[in-house]
Amino acid sequence: MTEPSARRLTGADAPDWQRLRLEALSTYPEAFLTTHDEAAAVPISAIAKRLDTGHTLGVFQDTAMVGIGSLNQLTKAQTKHRAEIGAFFVRPAAQGTGAAAALMEAMAEGAQQIGVRQLELYVAASNTRAIAFYTRAGFREVGQIPNATLSNGVFETDLIMVRELS
Ligand SMILES: CC(C)(COP(=O)(O)OP(=O)(O)OC[C@H]1O[C@@H](n2cnc3c(N)ncnc32)[C@H](O)[C@@H]1OP(=O)(O)O)[C@@H](O)C(=O)NCCC(=O)NCCS
Repeated sequence: MTEPSARRLTGADAPDWQRLRLEALSTYPEAFLTTHDEAAAVPISAIAKRLDTGHTLGVFQDTAMVGIGSLNQLTKAQTKHRAEIGAFFVRPAAQGTGAAAALMEAMAEGAQQIGVRQLELYVAASNTRAIAFYTRAGFREVGQIPNATLSNGVFETDLIMVRELS
């Protein structure tokens, strides 16, 4: 298997991105704010537009896209040095292979290139694997959102994690 390599996605990648996104939401529904049905309702044309204009990256192994992540830069003059990471997912077969780290480092580099100095994310407090990964990638917990999600009558706490970029 070739080393994982990450790149920014464009509209042409929309079908592959949507396939991975729906796999993420059906396999790990408790890890994301969006439901599978909400994501499935988004037209592919809207996804393609978002990929062309935004900062969404994919990580590839042997030419197959195995992971995705989006960078949402805040827009105000006083906040555009910050970006939120969302929709971060690596397919189970590619977990533990370094693909997630390659994706995260490409996102951090891309963020720096657009003037971002701080990465932020929310992660469910029960998602121990993701928390371990983010901690190794340089994030630290700075707070919590109690009752961040309510699903089937069950509340879940989110951790807020931050990584400062040099
Ligand atoms: C989060 C994710 C991208 C991390 O990628 P990954 O390839 O699994 O990450 P790695 O294997 O490099 O690192 C995972 C860490 O968790 C540890 N780990 C492995 N299995 C674990 C488990 N079942 N429970 C807890 N920790 C676990 C690993 O040992 C490693 O810890 P370390 O850095 O201290 O050695 C990936 O697991 C994923 O896509 N998960 C499902 C979707 C998700 O939760 N996305 C995040 C939403 S905020």
